[in-house]
Amino acid sequence: MAFEEFGSGAAHISGSLAQRRRIRRCKLTVRSDMRKTRALPGPKAKRLIERDTLCMSKSYTRIYPLVVERGSGVWLWDVDGNRFLDFNAGIAVCATGHSHPQVVSALKDQISRFLHMSGTDFYYAAEINLAEKLSRITPGRFHKRVFLTNSGAEAVEAALKLCRYQTRRSQVIAFYGAFHGRTMGALSLTASKAVQRKYFSPFLAGVTHVPYADCLHCVYNLEYPSCDFACVNFIEEVVFQKSTSPEDVAAIFVEPIQGEGGYIVPPDGYHNRLKRLAEKYGILFVADEVQSGMGRTGKMFAIEHWDVVPDVVTVAKGIASGLPIGAAVARSPLMDWEPGAHGSTFGGNPVSCAAALATISLLEDGLVTNAARVGAFIMESLKEIEKRHRILGWVRGKGLMIGMEILKTRGDGKGNPDKRDLLVRHCFEKGLLILPCGESALRFSPPLVVSKKEAELALEIFEESLAEVEKERGGVGRAHSTFAAAGA
Ligand SMILES: Cc1ncc(COP(=O)(O)O)c(C=O)c1O
Repeated sequence: MAFEEFGSGAAHISGSLAQRRRIRRCKLTVRSDMRKTRALPGPKAKRLIERDTLCMSKSYTRIYPLVVERGSGVWLWDVDGNRFLDFNAGIAVCATGHSHPQVVSALKDQISRFLHMSGTDFYYAAEINLAEKLSRITPGRFHKRVFLTNSGAEAVEAALKLCRYQTRRSQVIAFYGAFHGRTMGALSLTASKAVQRKYFSPFLAGVTHVPYADCLHCVYNLEYPSCDFACVNFIEEVVFQKSTSPEDVAAIFVEPIQGEGGYIVPPDGYHNRLKRLAEKYGILFVADEVQSGMGRTGKMFAIEHWDVVPDVVTVAKGIASGLPIGAAVARSPLMDWEPGAHGSTFGGNPVSCAAALATISLLEDGLVTNAARVGAFIMESLKEIEKRHRILGWVRGKGLMIGMEILKTRGDGKGNPDKRDLLVRHCFEKGLLILPCGESALRFSPPLVVSKKEAELALEIFEESLAEVEKERGGVGRAHSTFAAAGA
């Protein structure tokens, strides 16, 4: 019996005993059907990983030995026929699930006509349609312009160059815990894990990092709301007074919800205060929505949860269901730079544009709403699970951007990266794909097509794994773990 066939999530909670028994039987069938090989990786995966080990860059951060063969919706199959529930979505990319038929059909149509033209030098409808669409869906009802790129880091680079160009100011404020990409400009803004920067200095001059509104690990040891946003006041009262004149600051780059740095949701009012500060000194407010955007949080853009309208929005990841594309979207007068000031050979290529248009139309037709609905269900369930397990804490998130901390014990609030790593591995062994983030956090970022039933199954696997890990002594050991360096 296919998993999709058994009763709804609501029935699972409130149905009769017979109904609940039937659902339980179906779930067991689905679960027993997921694993085909005795050990993971299976023989085919093992052979491919051996070859990979010899030819691929050693900088890659492989979390577990998953070798994918195909995918559909929230499900992935490895080369040995094992089936996995994908709660990563290719690091928050495959918003419409794997190989959504509408996206595939849009791609086929575009591929049969032409593959490339270079939108920097020539015109084509897909690029124009996408720019118009992005202008309409990004926050702010004013005329905008769009610069298309191949990735999130490139979108950040474009935003950074634009802000410097237009303000003629050199300095930038960014945040500890931020991840903006790995190209040199974007990396200069990134301050998530030291290993991502080690041996790459000198970085772009003029970047000042300041504490984010990470209330779980408040560097001031204060509590919200009595803290009165000490982290924002610090910028004005310390940075602007002692080291960096605000008249030299071009932009504040901020993730509405920090992603790779730990799925940190700032408290209400934070972005509003930050925006007011930026406005006071003529500083541009750049919202990096590469991970939090495109419907993932239950609104098209995460910054909309706080009614803040940024000057520039950067997007990538979830915009095209897996095809490489990113964008910097800005007020029209701001993106008025002279021809030749910036460009890209592949940026906004027609195939990626076609995928993005199909993706956005699916997001608008229900997937953003689904992210809010199923996200709320997962969050509620995780809060219940949290009560039953002392090593799980600080469940947070919006929509389907959900983070949680794995702790030594709940009381002292200290993170337990070893157990977190072990838990990720246990989940993988049972067929659930999740990823770490931050020091000791986990993230759930499933495709936005995930159903309540699929979420229930994921939560069941997660809690089972959590219970096992809770009982085990120690973890996988940091020496064997690549997680400290993992993520994007
Ligand atoms: C918020 C944010 N900005 C930028 C990037 C960089 O994107 P890419 O890996 O596509 O270069 C990421 C990647 O994880 C991200 O999460």
